[in-house]
Amino acid sequence: MPQTPELAESAPPAQHHRLESPVHHASTHDDWWRRSVIYQVYPRSFRDTTGNGVGDLPGITLELPKIASLGVDALWLSPFFASPQRDAGYDVSDYCAVDPLFGTLGDFDDLVAEANRLGVKILVDIVPNHCSNEHLLFARALAQGPGSAAREMFIFRDGRGERGDLPPNNWQSHFGGSAWTRVTEADGSPGQYYLHLFDSSQPDFNWDNPAVGDEFEHILRFWLDRGAGGFRVDVAHALVKDAALPDWGGTPDGSPSPGFPFSDAPMFGRPGVHDVFRRWRGICEEYDGERVLCAEANVHPIEAMADWVRSDEMHQSFNFPFLHTGWDAQALKGIITRSLNAFDAVGAPSTWVLSNHDVARHATRFGTVAPATRPGDGLGPEDPQPDLELGLARARAATLFMLGLPGGAYLYQGEELGLGDHTELPHPLRQDPTYARTNGERLGRDGCRVPLPWTPGNPTLGFSDAGEAWIPQPATWQHLTREAQELDPDSTLWMYRNALGLRRARNLGLGDLSWLVDTGTPEVLGFANGGLLVIMNLGNAQFTLPEGTVLQASSATAVDATGRLLNPDSTVWLLPA
Ligand code: NOJ
Repeated sequence: MPQTPELAESAPPAQHHRLESPVHHASTHDDWWRRSVIYQVYPRSFRDTTGNGVGDLPGITLELPKIASLGVDALWLSPFFASPQRDAGYDVSDYCAVDPLFGTLGDFDDLVAEANRLGVKILVDIVPNHCSNEHLLFARALAQGPGSAAREMFIFRDGRGERGDLPPNNWQSHFGGSAWTRVTEADGSPGQYYLHLFDSSQPDFNWDNPAVGDEFEHILRFWLDRGAGGFRVDVAHALVKDAALPDWGGTPDGSPSPGFPFSDAPMFGRPGVHDVFRRWRGICEEYDGERVLCAEANVHPIEAMADWVRSDEMHQSFNFPFLHTGWDAQALKGIITRSLNAFDAVGAPSTWVLSNHDVARHATRFGTVAPATRPGDGLGPEDPQPDLELGLARARAATLFMLGLPGGAYLYQGEELGLGDHTELPHPLRQDPTYARTNGERLGRDGCRVPLPWTPGNPTLGFSDAGEAWIPQPATWQHLTREAQELDPDSTLWMYRNALGLRRARNLGLGDLSWLVDTGTPEVLGFANGGLLVIMNLGNAQFTLPEGTVLQASSATAVDATGRLLNPDSTVWLLPA
C-alpha cells in the first residue's frame, strides 16, 4: 500500500523497548468466548442465491468456508426471523420462523450443520425489547382493549391532557419523533398510547409482566434446541423501564450526548434488567457447548456496561466506547485501559469492535475529517466525501492494532475487504426508518449495509446471480471484490487472515497487556501481549521501531527500506529477534 515516507526527519534514534507494569494479566480460563473472534453477518447483504436481490441463509451456507477460513470462531447473524422488515428485521413478527426473504427453518438447520462441520458457531440475534406491530401478541393487545391481559404484554398508557391527546411522557424514539403512538380502539374511538423506543412499528414489551419472560424462555430454547451457539441480545440495556415512566430531563433519547444512552435514564439500565439475563444465563448453561450471550448494552460509562457481564449474567458486551474513540492515540490508550480494568473487575473478557450495521464503517470514519459516530448519521452525496486511501490505511492499522488486544473481537462482514460505506446513495433508495422519521435530517444506516462484492464484473459484483441488489454498491468496489483480493498477498483480506492466524497461534485473546513506556511521541501507541509487540503510528512522522525485533505482521508497507521506520497510519506486530 502506498505510504508517505517523506516525513522522516523527526524519527528519534532506535531504542530497546521498555514496558509499563501490566494493566491486564493473562486469563487462567480457556473458555472460547474469552478469546473469540466473532464475525457479524448481515444476511440481507451477504449473498443472494434466490435472485430476489436480498441475501439469504443458503447464501451464508454456500460461502461459509470462505469466512471460516479467515480464522473466526463464530458468526453472529443479524435477524432473519419473520418480519415486515420495517427496521431490516429488528421488527420481528414471529421469533420462531425464518422470513421467506431469507429462506426456511430447514435452511437454518443446513447452515448449522455446515458450521459444525467447519468448527464455527452460529449466534442468533434475539430482539427482546420490542417486536413488530404485526406480531400476533400485539394484534391481540389491540383487539382486546385497555385493561386486558393481552395489553399487559406491552406498555400501554392513557394520554395526558384533558382529552388524553398528549403522549404519556416526553420520551423520544431513537429514530426520531415521539416514542409513543396512539391507537384507535376497536369501537373507533381515539385510544391509549403504546411505547416504542424505536419505530412505531416496534412496540416495546412490558418486561415487568412475567408472561413476557416466559415467552422469551420458549424462544431461546427453540433456537438452542436447533443448535444455536448463543445469542447477540439487541438493546440489552432497555428491556425494563422505570415503572413510573417519568419525563426524562436529558436529551430526548435518553442520552447525555447523541448516540450514547446514559445508564441513569429511566428507560436504560434499570436493576430488573439484570434478573432477565441471570435467567437467560441459567438457560444457556443447561445446554452443552458453552452457549453464550453477547449484550448490546449501549450504556456509558464502560464501568456501568460491565454490570451486564457479571459472572452470572452475559458472557460478553460490545465495547462501543472503544468503537467511538476515533483516531487518537492517548484516548485509545485511556479507553483500552479502562475497559480492561472494568471487565477484569467482574471476571469478564473485554471486547473490541470497530464496525457494525448501525454506524459508518471504520474505513469511512477514518477517512472523514469530522466523522459521525451516532447510529443513523450516514454520509450523503451532498457531504464532503471521505479520503478513501487514508481511510483504508487507517482502518487496516486500527484493525491490526485491535486484533493484538486480549479479549474478544468482533468483525463486521466486508471489513476484511476494506469496505467503507456507500456515501453517495441516492436519497429515494434509503430504507432505514431513521431517514423518514427525521424528514431526511439524519440519512440513516443504509450506507454501511450495502451488499458484499464477491467477484468482479457482474452487475452486483457476484452478490446475486440474478444481478439484483436491494440497494446498489459503490462503483469503487469493483477492485475490492473477495476474488480479486484472494489473488493479492498485499490485500486487506490477506492481512486479516494472517493476523487472525497469528492471533490464534499465539493465543493473544487470552493474553496480557502492558503498554510500551514513552514512545517519545504521544501519537505512537504500543503494547506487549505475551512476547508480541504491537505498535501503531497515529501521527504524521515516521517512528523508529525498537531494536532487536523482527516483523511478524504489518498493516501496510508499514516500514521503510531500512525496515526500522514505521510510517504514519500504520501498525506492526513485532517479536524479539
Ligand atoms: C439495535 C440494532 O443493532 C439496530 O439495527 C436496530 O435498529 C435497533 N437495535 C432496534 O432493534
